[in-house]
Amino acid sequence: MLDLGSGGGIDVLLSARRVGPRGRAYDLDAGTDMLELARRNAEEAGVTNVEFLHGTIEHVPLPARSVDVVISNRVINLSDDKAATLAEAFRVLRPGGRFGVSDIVTDDGDTGTAEELRRRAATERRIGCTAASLTIPRYRDLLLEAGFVGVGVTLTADHGDGVHSAVVKARKPRIGPGLEFRPMRDTDAEQVLEVYQLGLDSGQASFETTAPSWERFSAGKLHNLRYVVSDTATGQVVAWVAASRVSTRPVYAGVIEHSVYVHPGYRACGIGRALLTAFIEAGEDSGIWTVQSGIFPENTASLALHEAVGFRVLGTRERVGRHHGVWRDVLMIERRSTTVG
Ligand SMILES: CC(C)(COP(=O)(O)OP(=O)(O)OC[C@H]1O[C@@H](n2cnc3c(N)ncnc32)[C@H](O)[C@@H]1OP(=O)(O)O)[C@@H](O)C(=O)NCCC(=O)NCCS
Ligand SMILES: C[S@@+](CC[C@H](N)C(=O)[O-])C[C@H]1O[C@@H](n2cnc3c(N)ncnc32)[C@H](O)[C@@H]1O
Repeated sequence: MLDLGSGGGIDVLLSARRVGPRGRAYDLDAGTDMLELARRNAEEAGVTNVEFLHGTIEHVPLPARSVDVVISNRVINLSDDKAATLAEAFRVLRPGGRFGVSDIVTDDGDTGTAEELRRRAATERRIGCTAASLTIPRYRDLLLEAGFVGVGVTLTADHGDGVHSAVVKARKPRIGPGLEFRPMRDTDAEQVLEVYQLGLDSGQASFETTAPSWERFSAGKLHNLRYVVSDTATGQVVAWVAASRVSTRPVYAGVIEHSVYVHPGYRACGIGRALLTAFIEAGEDSGIWTVQSGIFPENTASLALHEAVGFRVLGTRERVGRHHGVWRDVLMIERRSTTVG
């Protein structure tokens, strides 16, 4: 496990006991005085499975996928780049790894009168939070942007003026051995479009026959709900999922249409299912209540995959469009969340 900003080391020492003699706890702190204090405390406690790291939580000096659990107590609120801190926590976690921290959060951000904002800032300073804490929705968004799912924020103490202590939890999805789930980036463009084209070449994935340019693809997709699965040995993108809004009308704010593609060399081994499951969870974390799509009736793999993760067939749009000169039916499918909306 890794403790972000361990200070005197109380949590890292307790955790070192919990991970057992064959486990390891990393103490990370920017202050050399704090590291020295924590080292002395470890010695006194007779704890030997702690490694002390001098560095910042915005640039964690550990390789990717090297820890199972990230903890932290009242440090992330001090960071001047909280997005970088959460992205680093995601990077160093192994797939399936857990993030669970205690931190300071605020009810709302820029809303409120000048007097309310002044009082909130004063309360934050009083409890030692000097870099302005995240609002609860912003914390959730930054965790999702980093690639986390299963985000939970539980308030544990009310400091007044909309300032709270909170336990914040999230999880890095697990896809399968040697595979990693992460947000899709612009640098994935070529490989994402290649997997897309290979799917289109099957003739059963879509009415489209040619993958679009990255600019057109990217402009049509939501930027916060697009993910890839990459092979950790080669870095190659082997699957992706992305979505678009079905309407700009506010009433449909929680309704999206998705696409999912797995490289032919990686199909039928559970990647589609794991990727779609993580995507649905991230969608629910960000307030999505319905995910919909259309499937050719002949696409038995896609139908099986979607039914396996809770989609139902609404009906058949008969001969709705022409594909390579042939009129084709499309099955309309949707998954309605039972927890959102
Ligand atoms: C559809 C697709 C995404 C499925 O991904 P995948 O990683 O191969 O699927 P999984 O291995 O996770 O399998 C998920 C479920 O579908 C079933 N399935 C997968 N391939 C199947 C096939 N060819 N025939 C029947 N069932 C199949 C699996 O048995 C599994 O069900 P289970 O969990 O109940 O056993 C993949 O085939 C693909 O990329 N196809 C081309 C693009 C496409 O059609 N996208 C969908 C557009 S609507
Ligand atoms: C409020 S103390 C909390 C210490 C400990 N987690 C605890 O609960 O006792 C904050 C600690 O985080 C460290 N810290 C603050 N900002 C940091 C950063 N950006 N990177 C690494 N450490 C940082 C400080 O040096 C200090 O030890």
